[in-house]
Amino acid sequence: MATNVQVQLASRPTGWVQESNFRIVESPLPKPGPGQLLVKSLWLSLDPYMRGRMSDAKSYATPVQIGDVMVGGAVGEVVESNNPKFTPGDHLVGPFGWQLYAVSGGDGVMKVDPKLVPVSAYLGVAGMPGATAWTGLLEHCQPKAGETVVVSAASGAVGSVVGQLAKLQGCRAVGIAGGKTKCDYVVKQLGFDACVDYKAGNLDDALKAAAPDGIDCYFENVGGEVMDAAFRRLNPFSRVALCGLIAEYNLTEPYGMKMIRSVLVNRVNVRGFIVSDRQDLYVRAVTQLAKWVAQGKIKYNETVAEGLRAAPAAFIGMLKGANLGKQLVKLT
Ligand SMILES: NC(=O)c1ccc[n+]([C@@H]2O[C@H](COP(=O)([O-])OP(=O)(O)OC[C@H]3O[C@@H](n4cnc5c(N)ncnc54)[C@H](OP(=O)(O)O)[C@@H]3O)[C@@H](O)[C@H]2O)c1
Repeated sequence: MATNVQVQLASRPTGWVQESNFRIVESPLPKPGPGQLLVKSLWLSLDPYMRGRMSDAKSYATPVQIGDVMVGGAVGEVVESNNPKFTPGDHLVGPFGWQLYAVSGGDGVMKVDPKLVPVSAYLGVAGMPGATAWTGLLEHCQPKAGETVVVSAASGAVGSVVGQLAKLQGCRAVGIAGGKTKCDYVVKQLGFDACVDYKAGNLDDALKAAAPDGIDCYFENVGGEVMDAAFRRLNPFSRVALCGLIAEYNLTEPYGMKMIRSVLVNRVNVRGFIVSDRQDLYVRAVTQLAKWVAQGKIKYNETVAEGLRAAPAAFIGMLKGANLGKQLVKLT
């Protein structure tokens, strides 16, 4: 008989996450009650926001409690259903957590088409990260053809979509990423116009060369010194979509915003956003992105860890930049 395996939060990290912050437990298969369904997860998404949920600092979402299953999106298959909206064999994306099987009431789940694109893509390019790129770029930055769009963490799940959407808008797309391999991928595979390796040591000069007309739209995934460099190149009346600050998620003290003067003198519109606030855009974004992936207009890469027990190490690796594209865990 199948058993469930779960990754639970064992303790809250101070500074960098450690594998010891997680506990892996086996438990009997859960039984769906009236109106519920049992989902067998196939792929688990590992995302930077999970670092925030491990902490009890005040944020936009409730923290995971010690002993609870780690939160996370997964794509899975319905194996048993007491809910007329779902049938065994349906493929779903939902908040099923870091575990092999989940019972769900159907809230927050979305049926996906495994024939259109591989189901794992619904966790990345055609899922929450893709919708994040769409919301931040098209709703908040609203780039016009000919403008320069710069995105940090450019080879990652969100950043890789931002740059490709910018190209579809007729913009100059410039990435910032860590290392030559990632920068080569962004330019040669994804079609960005340029990419700056922030680890190469000449960030300001390299960004000036890559964005000679300055920055009209900056999509911020990182914070820290990368943000300082981008803010130094902002044009008057430019827009910043403040999506993430991964450079400081594992710091005990925030890095802060050193170039705030640039916001003032350039009359910059800086807008923080959380993708889940725009459910109205979500379905439209992921539906269109899945079609563009199927047509080859948007490309993506996945870094895959094998098996749920590999999730803690893969999560820590992703926070340190070991992933190229979307970080996933293959569960079966
Ligand atoms: N606002 C929202 O609703 C929302 C939704 C989804 C994601 N996000 C945010 O978007 C950002 C990207 O998420 P993702 O899922 O696409 O992750 P990702 O880019 O696929 O993976 C994280 C990447 O961050 C980069 N990174 C880590 N530490 C860094 C540092 N100190 N300086 C510069 N880069 C660093 C690494 O790339 P390099 O090797 O290039 O450094 C790493 O590969 C995160 O900040 C996340 O929190 C926000």
